[in-house]
Amino acid sequence: MASIAIDGPAGAGKSTIAKKVAKELGFIYVDTGALYRAIAYDLLKNDVDIDDEKALSAACDGMQVEIRYEDGLQQVYLNGENVTPFLRTEETGNMASKSSAKAPVRAALLELQRDMARRFDVVMDGRDIGTNVLPAAEVKIYLTASSKERASRRYKELVEKGESPDFDQIEADIIERDQRDMNREIAPLKQAEDAVLIDSSDMDIDEVTAAILAAAKERL
Ligand code: DC
Repeated sequence: MASIAIDGPAGAGKSTIAKKVAKELGFIYVDTGALYRAIAYDLLKNDVDIDDEKALSAACDGMQVEIRYEDGLQQVYLNGENVTPFLRTEETGNMASKSSAKAPVRAALLELQRDMARRFDVVMDGRDIGTNVLPAAEVKIYLTASSKERASRRYKELVEKGESPDFDQIEADIIERDQRDMNREIAPLKQAEDAVLIDSSDMDIDEVTAAILAAAKERL
């Protein structure tokens, strides 16, 4: 089985690009952020205080997270319920950024991610895939873009959805999320030594996809 690990900060375009690369190669796309979001969703729903170690461990012990594919799209099941439609809100994303720094949360998801890579050829995106989850991945990409560019992409997405977002607030949230994801103790976001760095600030989706496919061609 072969693995392509794509890590990088929020809003760098990882999921869009990873989906395209997976389709092109006939690999399965694993969105690991959705797994952290599923746990965050449950913690919010049950009003768990994530700074209370016992309460957090008990909550994580009681959770069963599964990945299924329906019509080729990843669905995340939590204790048997498909929670995928609830995961892409700002609230869940922000909670995921906080709760994913906690040991019981990371431990709850590590084996699930490794198991996917043992069973399938995968393009897996996240924060610590190349450094921690799949250190032996054949292809590692660190995909980033400036915080201005990432905020501007998010701004456009929200405007297209009919919302009236505040650009400065979006950029501030992105910077805060970067800080948290990069400075946590366990499995922080960082470029793996053997990862190819791609800065997509001035690249379009097709250019980034082509760059990753070229790196994959060399290494697979
Ligand atoms: O990629 P995303 O925005 O869906 O991820 C949500 C949060 O989950 C992100 O802020 C940090 C965390 N995460 C992580 O810690 N490790 C991963 N492999 C993926 C996501």
